[in-house]
Parts: sequence; structure tokens; C-alpha cells
Amino acid sequence: MSNYTPKKVLITGGAGFIGCNFVRYLLKTDPDIEVLVLDLLTYAGNEENLEELKDSKRFTFVKGDIRDPEIVDSVMKKVDTVAHFAAESHVDRSILSAQDFISTNIYGTYVLLQSALKHKIKRFINISTDEVYGSIPEGEADETFPLKPSSPYSASKAGQDQMAYSHSVTFNLPVITTRSTNNFGPYQYPEKMIPLFITRALENKPLPVYGDGLQIRDWTYVEDNCEAIFHVLLEGKIGEIYNIGSGNQLTNLVLTKKILNALGKPETLITYVEDRKGHDRRYSVSCKKVKKLGWNPRHSFEESLQQTIAWYQTHQNWWGKIIQKQESYQEFFSTYYKTKV
Ligand code: NAD
Ligand code: DAU
Repeated sequence: MSNYTPKKVLITGGAGFIGCNFVRYLLKTDPDIEVLVLDLLTYAGNEENLEELKDSKRFTFVKGDIRDPEIVDSVMKKVDTVAHFAAESHVDRSILSAQDFISTNIYGTYVLLQSALKHKIKRFINISTDEVYGSIPEGEADETFPLKPSSPYSASKAGQDQMAYSHSVTFNLPVITTRSTNNFGPYQYPEKMIPLFITRALENKPLPVYGDGLQIRDWTYVEDNCEAIFHVLLEGKIGEIYNIGSGNQLTNLVLTKKILNALGKPETLITYVEDRKGHDRRYSVSCKKVKKLGWNPRHSFEESLQQTIAWYQTHQNWWGKIIQKQESYQEFFSTYYKTKV
């Protein structure tokens, strides 16, 4: 028996990468759950990510901003549970300008939390990141580790976490926070490293490796993260934080070579470019707490990387439209990478 049974779940940011995978996961896993997505459809949100779910009676999509209390109230009153994924999520964009990161990630979360209180929400899952701990030169950060965010993105996520925590302490809102490591898998917007490198390699374009390429990330397959989040929703303790990771720690260079190798492309596509400002060298979290709840990652890294590469190979139409037609993608790319690739 689970500790909690969600019936109708508001998924903010459900048209983005992890959100749309979580929507599918929930609908597939629990036939009694209904899902309501609230998403602004920013450059990173894409209705096509939810296309085949449109006719499901258990699925509703609302276009709207989490910073708008009226629209938030209108959806909040229809649900008992919130899984809050909506965010500005790309570190490099936060280096160019952090305004939207602060307003969506901190203020938008505040609007959701206040509305959740008003509508007596039974569980509010706050989706955060391992980046709030900052760079971890050695060992691993558990959930009590001090927050030391290095980028405007991770600083805004730390602000979001503290706002969520404050609502659980001050108002007894039943909040649980998850902090996951880097995700990869289908529907990831092609500005993040894995999809950027796969799509560029497919087009025989140089792969811009920042600095010496020896930075370390722990890569989690998106379905494993979805399972972990669902597990935390059912079994997690109110007011607690759960790290989620897979122990797949690789340097960017090793990962880049794996991608090139899988695609049969030459390593000469690797192009070393100027390092990201404030670039965290290594992320590493302890996942003992979530494992105690009974969750473990189920997917092998090598197999899921192959599946992800295959997905981008067969969904050229999906990413081609973004790369060729989306102004926001092109503008970011030419501004951020102008002097680099
Ligand atoms: P994403 O950028 O792919 O998607 C974000 C979604 O939020 C988009 O659909 C966008 O339209 C929506 N959105 C943005 N601003 C909004 C607003 N003001 N109102 C309503 N909707 C808005 O992000 P992702 O990679 O799927 O990440 C989802 C969450 O998981 C984020 O909170 C992120 O911080 C966190 N996270 C991501 C990773 C990762 O590796 N991708 C790892 C750890 C944590
Ligand atoms: O750790 C969790 C975080 O993972 C999430 O909170 C973020 O939302 C998500 O974007 C991701 O952040 P990273 O900065 O780690 O991911 P990104 O894919 O941007 O970069 C991964 C690594 O690859 C990082 O060390 C920077 C490097 N990189 C990235 C890009 C885009 C390159 O070397 N070249 C590139 O062009």
C-alpha cells in the first residue's frame, strides 16, 4: 500500500522535455490518474511533444503562465496533486540573461505554492536539480549539503527550493522536493549537450566541447527520473528532499566520443571552444535516501544512450523544425556560440 494515492495531477511544464515524458509515464502507469498540463509553450515547450495524447479523456492541456495567479487558480481548483516541472532550464541562456529565470523559477513557483495552499493541494512535488549544490570536487552531496549554486540558473532553482521549503514549514503545505542529475532521452530540446551533439553530428557539424571537456556529469535516463518522481510522490515523506541520480559519471569528452562512435562519425568533429563562464567541474549526489524508499534506476546507460540516439535519428522532423525554423533557437545559437563554432 502506498502512502498516497493521487487522482488528478497538475503537471506544470508538461510540454517540455521531462514534463512530457512524465505525462506519458503517469498515463501509462496508473489507469486511474487524470493529468492536466499547464504550460506557457516558451521556446522549450512544444505541443507536438504531447500530440498522441490529445484525444485521451484523462488528459487536458491548458496554455498559460505559472506567473499568472488567475490562470493558476483556475487549474489548481481542479486537481489534488501538483508536479511542478515548468522552468527556464538552460544554464547558458541564464548566463546571457537571468530575468526569465528569476521570474519563472522563483516568482512562478511562489504563485503556484500560494494557489496550492488556497486549494488545499494534498501533494506538491517541487522538481529541482543537483546543480543547487554547486560543483562537488570529490565525494557526493547528500540532501543536507549546503546550497552553493554557481550559475544564475542554479541560483534561481535554489531560490525556488527555499520558497517551496518555506511553504511547507510556515503553512504546512505538503511539499516534497526532488533534485535530479542530468537527464537525457527523447524530446530533449536540442540546445542541451546530448541532443545538441547528436543532431550536429548527424549534420556533420562541429561539436563545441567547452574548455578541456573533462567536466563530469551523472547522466540519468529520463524514464528512470520519471519513475523516481512517481515513487517519491507515492512514498516520499512530506517536507523532505530526495536526490535522484544513476551513478553514470562520465566526462563530457568520453560522452562525446561515445556519441560520435555510435553514429559512425569521426572524432575530428570535436571542437574545443571557450569554457562556459562559472562552469561547474563535477556534479555528484548521494541517492541513499530515495533508494531507501525502494527506487533504483532500471535502465543501463549504454542501452538508453543508443535508444536516445536512435530516437533523434528517426525524429529528424521534430528537431529539424526547431533548428531550421525557430527564431529563439537561431538567435540563441548565433549570440552564444558566435565566437566559438
Ligand atoms: P525544458 O526547458 O525542456 O521544459 C520547460 C517547460 O516549462 C517548457 O515546456 C516551457 O514551455 C515551460 N515553461 C517555462 N516557463 C513557463 C512559465 N512561466 N509558465 C508555464 N510554463 C513554462 O525543461 P526540462 O529539461 O524538461 O526540465 C524540467 C524541470 O526539471 C525543470 O524544473 C528543471 O530545472 C528540472 N531539471 C532538469 C534536468 C535536465 O537534465 N533536463 C535535470 C534536473 C532538473
Ligand atoms: O544537473 C542537472 C542539470 O543538467 C539541469 O538542472 C539543467 O536544467 C540541465 O540543463 C543540465 O545542466 P548542464 O549544464 O549540466 O547541461 P548541459 O546539457 O547544458 O551541459 C552538459 C555538460 O556539457 C556541461 O558540462 C556543459 C557541457 N557542454 C554543453 C553544451 C551545451 C559543452 O561542452 N558544450 C555544449 O555546447
